[in-house]
Amino acid sequence: MTNPSPWRATVLTLFPEMFPGPLGVSLAGRALASGLWQIEARDIRASATDRHRSVDDTPAGGGPGMVLRADVLAAAIDAAGIGPERPRLLMSPRGRPLTQARVVELARGPGPLIVCGRFEGVDQRVIDARGLEEVSIGDYVLSGGEIAAMALIDACVRLLPGVMGKEASGTEESFSDGLLEYPQYTRPQLFEGVPIPAILTSGDHAKVAAWRRAESEALTAARRPDLWEKAANRGSGQKTPKNKTDG
Ligand code: ADE
Repeated sequence: MTNPSPWRATVLTLFPEMFPGPLGVSLAGRALASGLWQIEARDIRASATDRHRSVDDTPAGGGPGMVLRADVLAAAIDAAGIGPERPRLLMSPRGRPLTQARVVELARGPGPLIVCGRFEGVDQRVIDARGLEEVSIGDYVLSGGEIAAMALIDACVRLLPGVMGKEASGTEESFSDGLLEYPQYTRPQLFEGVPIPAILTSGDHAKVAAWRRAESEALTAARRPDLWEKAANRGSGQKTPKNKTDG
């Protein structure tokens, strides 16, 4: 049966030809082809009104680079016809860091409008007037919001019902319980002289689960003290990881 209103990402960009890009292959691509989600990439420049179709201008007060014009972007947002139920995001290194919890919320909803910034920034008045929620995918600067938007969409799409074969793979991994994922192994049994940890081939499921938990905790404590602090505060009780793994 086809889904009458699947999850939908509406992307406003100066480079609509970038989409679906990598979202058109593999897991997300198969789900897109089978109608489990939709993507619409709209060209911001189509809302430019002057002779030169200009979308940006020099920053008021001076400084380097160009700023995306409020009037052009507002017209592009309005033309997209987004209902009030859909979140309106602006990808920006200045935004609140994207978390798996926010991804889960976005995946449960109807799907966002996503504005991809370019140049030095976006006129603040359109951010305020159209209620754009600024979202960052990390503390580094990309040349535009498109790749950030793709990362956000990919993270949402894999959580949509029917996209992932095995339910468990969606929940058992890094971040879903606030911990990084434990190390994985598969054949061959011996790789360059290094065997798979014996516990994993012991057939003792309780021991395997305990080993994985301890590895997750040790990795999280070593690599992400910020996450480890939160996990410990949530009342898993423990303040030190059960064993040690090379971070
Ligand atoms: N645009 C440029 N850099 C970005 C980042 N780190 N996150 C989101 N959007 C961006």
